Amino acid sequence: MERILRVEDLNVTYGESTRALRKVNFDLFQGEIVGIVGESGSGKSTLGLAIASLLALNKKVKFSGKVNVNGVDILNASEEQLYRIRGTGIFVIFQDPFQSLDPLVSIEDHLSEAYAISSDRNNVKVNPEQIRKAVITALKKVNFTNPEVILKKYPHELSGGQNQRIMIAMAILEKPKLLVADEPTTALDVTTQAQVLTLLKKIVKEEDMSLLFITHDLAVASMLCDRIIVLYDGLIQEIGSVKETISDPLHPYTKGLINSIPNESKKEGRLKFIKGMYIHNEVIDGCPFYPRCDSRKDECIKGIPSLIETRGRKVRCIIYGVEYERSDTTAK
Ligand SMILES: Nc1ncnc2c1ncn2[C@@H]1O[C@H](COP(=O)(O)OP(=O)(O)O)[C@@H](O)[C@H]1O
Ligand SMILES: [Mg+2]
Repeated sequence: MERILRVEDLNVTYGESTRALRKVNFDLFQGEIVGIVGESGSGKSTLGLAIASLLALNKKVKFSGKVNVNGVDILNASEEQLYRIRGTGIFVIFQDPFQSLDPLVSIEDHLSEAYAISSDRNNVKVNPEQIRKAVITALKKVNFTNPEVILKKYPHELSGGQNQRIMIAMAILEKPKLLVADEPTTALDVTTQAQVLTLLKKIVKEEDMSLLFITHDLAVASMLCDRIIVLYDGLIQEIGSVKETISDPLHPYTKGLINSIPNESKKEGRLKFIKGMYIHNEVIDGCPFYPRCDSRKDECIKGIPSLIETRGRKVRCIIYGVEYERSDTTAK
């Protein structure tokens, strides 16, 4: 299988002390949908920004490690390389579509520009008629039955769900290898959320893209993804297939997340929540989940447990072997 994304020893720090990501390592392959799951503040959006090469826009950010998208070393790429990789290599859908859509630009102009720019990046000449045809086809693919009407609209005239479908249409027109979606349905009502998720999955498969899907909601990730990466306090805690991770979670934190998913087949009559509050890493040496963990031992805070392989999966917990990270996890 072709590897589309490799993240290697990625450390990201904001200001002097906020270690947003620590020694993050994972791969994503052609056609795969990988979910990044974690509570608010765990570093998910920072990871999305790093992969989209948008981190350097923040002057207070320090980072080290490697992010390789489709053969391009994103964190060290030239402007020219980034111009080509944005759009054709990678496309990002944010929680708020207005982060990407300009209120003064019509839907037709947004979509036409997406197609024209990606054609230019691929050194293909297109005429207005070809652009319009491609734009209409993309709108139909994202389930707009009246593309001619939608083209004349402006983003503020459409609903949140419709605007996210416009974003997916833009992705179709840009044909990226890798789509990154950061909580794209979190702001939508439950029914619309389900529609957008179903559409996203269909389009990723049809258009032969790969998807990194960022969410705080493990239930949503399990509906959509092939593999799941569980993030806690900037550290990957567990990586595995959706099936194995949901049916047999390894990390105590993942177990807690699964127990807190509403499930009518659970007869206990109430939801379980993970006890305690999310505590930021400045105060804890060792496993950041220690204060909330039911299985904690003294060994947990002797160092940061390593991400170790067990049963063909990966987990960062001393239950599966007492090993600690050797290298520093702070970006300088
Ligand atoms: N621009 C920023 N400046 C300073 N700290 C930030 C910034 N963005 C995020 N952080 C901090 O980095 C950590 C990870 O944040 P983020 O990546 O947004 O997490 P998530 O998307 O999982 O909620 C949090 O502690 C957050 O407060
Ligand atoms: Mg976020």
